[in-house]
Amino acid sequence: MPELPAAAYCTFWGRAYHGDARELLALLPANSVALVLTSPPFALHRQKAYGNVDPDQYVEWFWPFALEIHRVLRDDGSFVFDLGPAWKRGSGTRSLYQYELVLRLAKLFHVVQEFYWYNPSKLPTPAEYVTIRRTRVKDAVNTIWWLAKTDEPQADNRRVLQPYSPSMRRLLKHGYKVARRPSQHEISPHFRRDNGGAIPPNILILPNCRSNDAYFRRCRAAQLPIHPARFPPALPEFFIRFLTQPGQLVVDPFAGSNVTGYVAEMLQRQWISIELNADYVAGSRLRFVDGTARKSA
Ligand SMILES: C[S@@+](CC[C@H](N)C(=O)[O-])C[C@H]1O[C@@H](n2cnc3c(N)ncnc32)[C@H](O)[C@@H]1O
Repeated sequence: MPELPAAAYCTFWGRAYHGDARELLALLPANSVALVLTSPPFALHRQKAYGNVDPDQYVEWFWPFALEIHRVLRDDGSFVFDLGPAWKRGSGTRSLYQYELVLRLAKLFHVVQEFYWYNPSKLPTPAEYVTIRRTRVKDAVNTIWWLAKTDEPQADNRRVLQPYSPSMRRLLKHGYKVARRPSQHEISPHFRRDNGGAIPPNILILPNCRSNDAYFRRCRAAQLPIHPARFPPALPEFFIRFLTQPGQLVVDPFAGSNVTGYVAEMLQRQWISIELNADYVAGSRLRFVDGTARKSA
């Protein structure tokens, strides 16, 4: 198998590559990756600066990446991707591209669970229907699909427990009457056990409105473009903790500003990121200049 080219930069835990993910994924060994976590370009009609794929061609465009992702995943590995909704051109009705993609991916992967990322700070789009005609409400939710190579991917929700709500804390303190609820669920004495936190639901409420962190300041100073579609760090943090263990390998093939690699570094997971746009790679490197970047090629 040909070797990977030189990395654009390396850190203690990871390597960032500038190039096309379809070609570079093909150079990674099979069965080596615990988690592929990514946000591919969405099928938007309104183009982002980095370009988007037409909804009608999305499934065919994505399929070669999917084959490589499946090959590089360990048998207990997971493939988690964030995909936003899209509208049909010139119409206030939905493109179904995400569902078409997931139905096709289900021929290759097991669909484990879907998550909904509610971003309260999303702008009101599509403007024509939301703010001008006022006949739609604003889109504020992306679906994050969790797929896996087998039906038993490694996962442990005890690694992503959330603080108990005030009412649950009261219940733990004062007890609960063992009873049947109106929903007909039995509330057993197990509910009184303090498990260290609440099991999270499959809704992640994460605003994404930062505009002045170190990444922004360093990109501005270096006159590099700020990536327009960055993950909030809590998003990769949730999935990396939930689905991997320290030392395992996380890959983001559409890495953008490399939030995935940065969070993986903090959580002591190995990481590989791939990004097509050289300026975004250069900007992402600035996330690591305070000591975690080991060398640059
Ligand atoms: C939605 S953005 C990812 C943003 C990222 N999650 C972050 O936190 O910054 C998708 C990225 O995929 C990149 N891209 C598009 N086609 C690619 C390809 N064939 N190989 C690698 N990267 C690609 C785009 O340049 C863009 O930066």
